Amino acid sequence: MQVLKLGGSVLTKKRGYLEPDNSGILSLAKMLSRTWKDGIKDIILVHGAGSFGHPLVVKYSLNDGVKTEAQKLGAAKTHSACVRLSTLLVDALCKEGVPAVSVPPAFLGKMKNRKLAAFNSKPVDDLLGLGYLPVLHGDMLPDSELGCAVCSGDQLVSWLGKNAERIILGTNVDGVCVDGKHIPEISQGNFEEVSAHFSKMEYADVTGGMKGKIKELIGLGVPSYIVNALHPERVESLLRGRSAPSTLVK
Ligand SMILES: Nc1ncnc2c1ncn2[C@@H]1O[C@H](COP(=O)(O)OP(=O)(O)OP(=O)(O)O)[C@@H](O)[C@H]1O
Ligand SMILES: [Mg+2]
Repeated sequence: MQVLKLGGSVLTKKRGYLEPDNSGILSLAKMLSRTWKDGIKDIILVHGAGSFGHPLVVKYSLNDGVKTEAQKLGAAKTHSACVRLSTLLVDALCKEGVPAVSVPPAFLGKMKNRKLAAFNSKPVDDLLGLGYLPVLHGDMLPDSELGCAVCSGDQLVSWLGKNAERIILGTNVDGVCVDGKHIPEISQGNFEEVSAHFSKMEYADVTGGMKGKIKELIGLGVPSYIVNALHPERVESLLRGRSAPSTLVK
């Protein structure tokens, strides 16, 4: 089984507000249709929220707890927007002949202080077993300390990918860069050194951007590739077990 995450930076216009990137969605749906037709079906698809999530979390101040009625309304609106983006992706996949089914994580997991503490993955396994493509996404989840908290797509990937053959994280850059130089591999050995070079992003990302991603993957024991999904053929190559320009997190 493989876990593929498509970042909100490729499915949406991340600098915008509730703005999908329709051509990004279409080209990735077409790519997944090719691999599906070639029998690569044992995939859990997760996607990020991009401009359907991060700016709403900032707007409604949801990152330090969801307690007031206004925050609850904001959390509900954020969940609704994430579901809307998921529907756009699922509809595009179905149109391309892939039986994709959206599985909103809001009802399956529990957080404790912003960390995923429990997740019922049975519905995901059941869908896989029946030959569907389960599609999960970054979402607002109940949190035992904070009322409700953001669960990033990256957190879901590390939870669901523990026993995966490989994890593929598609985003909008060619992998991790340090001083303009591409880093082909990150392991415990160079993690600290590379960590000093994560830059602040020009758009809202409430779940730690590239650093948040690496933190979820390091030490998992599953080969994890950060790849530029603005080039769908690179993601396709990795799904087929071939190489592609990327950063491998060991
Ligand atoms: N050292 C670095 N190397 C590469 N990218 C970096 C680095 N430091 C910060 N970044 C930023 O990380 C961004 C990718 O992370 P981001 O969380 O925005 O993507 P995403 O996961 O696709 O989106 P989402 O969180 O909405 O799913 C890149 O666009 C880049 O600006
Ligand atoms: Mg992110």
